[in-house]
Order: sequence, then structure tokens, then C-alpha cells
Amino acid sequence: MTMKKTVQNSPYIIKGEKKKYAWCACGDSSNQPFCDGSHMKSEKFSPVIFENEKEGTIALCGCKQTGNPPFCDGTHSSL
Ligand code: FES
Repeated sequence: MTMKKTVQNSPYIIKGEKKKYAWCACGDSSNQPFCDGSHMKSEKFSPVIFENEKEGTIALCGCKQTGNPPFCDGTHSSL
């Protein structure tokens, strides 16, 4: 089974704007935590496109193992 690549063992805390984001699910993007198209090399994973509904701080998963993508659900603590 192909595993997603853990980028860091903690979430990315960002100041979210009201707009659409593409969260990197494969871990290969050089623009973490966002997609830069690198997933197309392997075609095993696709980015998670999500609409951020309100401005404010959001925690996006950096370990890529969350059960609630694109958000951190604390899974990184058990890796
Ligand atoms: S950084 Fe992945 S679950 Fe927290």
C-alpha cells in the first residue's frame, strides 16, 4: 500500500481567507500545505479542494495522516 508522505509532525496554522484552497494530500508539494501539482507525477493521490467559509485561523494537517482532511484531527500525536 502506498503511504502518503508525512511532511511535518504538526499542523500548518494559517490565517484562512474566505476562498477555495487545494490542500496537498500526497506530501510532495513544495508549497505546503497547498497543492503545487506534484501529485500528477504519481497519480496516487489527489488534492483536497475545500471552500473556507469564514476568515480566521485554521489548522491544516501537515502529517497527511488525518482522518478529517484537510484539517488536523490530532493524529500526528500518535505517529
Ligand atoms: S498534523 Fe496531521 S493530524 Fe495533525
